[in-house]
Amino acid sequence: MTTAEKRCPSPIRELKNNLAPLQSFSPPKPKFSTDQIPDLTGRVMIVTGGYAGVGKETVKALLQHNAKVYIAARNRQKATEAIADLKAQTGQAALFLELDLADLAAVQKSAQEFLSKEHELHVLFNNAIITLCTDSSCEEV
Ligand SMILES: NC(=O)c1ccc[n+]([C@@H]2O[C@H](COP(=O)([O-])OP(=O)(O)OC[C@H]3O[C@@H](n4cnc5c(N)ncnc54)[C@H](OP(=O)(O)O)[C@@H]3O)[C@@H](O)[C@H]2O)c1
Repeated sequence: MTTAEKRCPSPIRELKNNLAPLQSFSPPKPKFSTDQIPDLTGRVMIVTGGYAGVGKETVKALLQHNAKVYIAARNRQKATEAIADLKAQTGQAALFLELDLADLAAVQKSAQEFLSKEHELHVLFNNAIITLCTDSSCEEV
């Protein structure tokens, strides 16, 4: 038995061996950074759920490259705070677009509001997660 085999009891070693193929699912080191985003002047973007987490970071990177960015989300207060924070960080102001993805009538109203303000949408970032919960489980959609 090798030293490694002595250190690692066989059920654990077996488990590690079985899990080894999963390492290929780890994302590789990125070859692209937000510094490489080109100038986005004149480009209109929507980031759903853009006032938190990954969405807020996305909005920040877009603002830093001069895009016009709508934060499409359901809580005006959270949006106002995030817009102020992002303005302090980037010098650019994102815009709020009211959107509750769990309510189809509200989605349609939101689309109409957007169309009343803009005639082009260059990129839609479908970032927001809706979590559907039943009595026994929750599922991201
Ligand atoms: N974080 C990670 O490590 C990771 C990894 C892989 C993929 N992702 C994906 O990246 C996306 C963002 O993840 P995150 O970790 O940044 O999530 P998060 O911080 O929980 O943000 C989710 C956003 O979705 C919004 N949202 C939820 N329900 C909504 C609804 N009905 N209508 C409109 N907006 C709604 C939330 O707003 P409220 O505050 O109003 O709920 C929030 O702004 C998700 O699609 C996630 O699956 C994340």
